[in-house]
Amino acid sequence: MVEKKNIDWSSLGFNYQKTDYRFVSNYKNGAWDEGVLTDDDKVVITECAGVLQYSQSCFEGLKAYTTKDGHIVTFRPDLNAERMKNSCERLEMPVYPVDKWVEAVEKVVRANEAWVAPYGSGATLYLRPYMFASSAVIGVKPAEEYQFRILTTPVGPYFKGGAKPITIRISDYDRAAPHGTGHIKAGLNYAMSLYQIMDAHRNGFDENLYLDPATRTKIEETGGANVLLVKKDGTIVIPKSPSILPSITRRSLVTIASDMLGMKVEEREVEFQEVRDGEFAECGLCGTAAVISPVGRIFDHGTYYEMPSGMEAMGPVIQKLYDTLTGIQMGTIEGPEGWVHVID
Ligand code: PLP
Ligand code: COI
Repeated sequence: MVEKKNIDWSSLGFNYQKTDYRFVSNYKNGAWDEGVLTDDDKVVITECAGVLQYSQSCFEGLKAYTTKDGHIVTFRPDLNAERMKNSCERLEMPVYPVDKWVEAVEKVVRANEAWVAPYGSGATLYLRPYMFASSAVIGVKPAEEYQFRILTTPVGPYFKGGAKPITIRISDYDRAAPHGTGHIKAGLNYAMSLYQIMDAHRNGFDENLYLDPATRTKIEETGGANVLLVKKDGTIVIPKSPSILPSITRRSLVTIASDMLGMKVEEREVEFQEVRDGEFAECGLCGTAAVISPVGRIFDHGTYYEMPSGMEAMGPVIQKLYDTLTGIQMGTIEGPEGWVHVID
């Protein structure tokens, strides 16, 4: 066991802090090299790199946890690797092989073991795998060379206040076009959300809720997390749309709810009108960074729609899902086979 870094783990927010090692692999002449762990956090690329000119980049996010019995684990990293494969295919980028991807995750976590937050500290080690076009392009076309990296950084809760319910508002701008790139984790999806997130914060809201770009009537997701709703009878309702990111947390929660907790789950199109009509008792945002962050109210052009669960604490259904998910991740509850990937 290496000695942990001397960090006040419980006070961490979701910010970048440089850690000791990152994984780097380069794609050249049609092949990936072996990849190395390095202490060099600097990226040096040509001024005309595809990522700088045409934003050819994508990324992933997952966490390393210390379990109650002292293991270091990640949660379903194979699904992140698969999703990055889908992102790369959509962006004309070379795929980093799924098995090598998971090996790279293992290597970078082992190298940064001192940065993996202790069990019960409230923090985790966030892993950010990402790939970008590193060679020059000037005509609009894919680059020939790429770099795949995984950086790590210790993090606490994504939203200030941790488990305190947040306020989200309907955005007047879209994050994804119909038949666009909303279903992959392209950096460009986030670039175009920055104005909206700053505008939301300037106006006192925590996040934006995006409606479907074609009709602006159905709930899609937020800038960095999927949405989960709970009906008054306890049924979980998950918005379904081809332009939302297939969240691994959300897919896991659907399995937890239906197979482990015996809850009823509906995955379907969800009209925002159902919120106006007071159909829901609870709402939450789910994702690797967000875990499950409760939503207390939704602002829609002058009107607040309050969730009966209120602004003080998570509602009971979301709390049960949260406890089960984090219990599986931290090794106190047994989850489905293969979900917890033991590294050490
Ligand atoms: N939706 C968006 C737009 C995201 O950026 C993320 C984060 O990865 C998610 C949803 C949640 O996905 P996951 O649960 O796989 O982290
Ligand atoms: C994640 O949850 O890992 C994300 O990537 C969401 C956000 C930080 C972009």
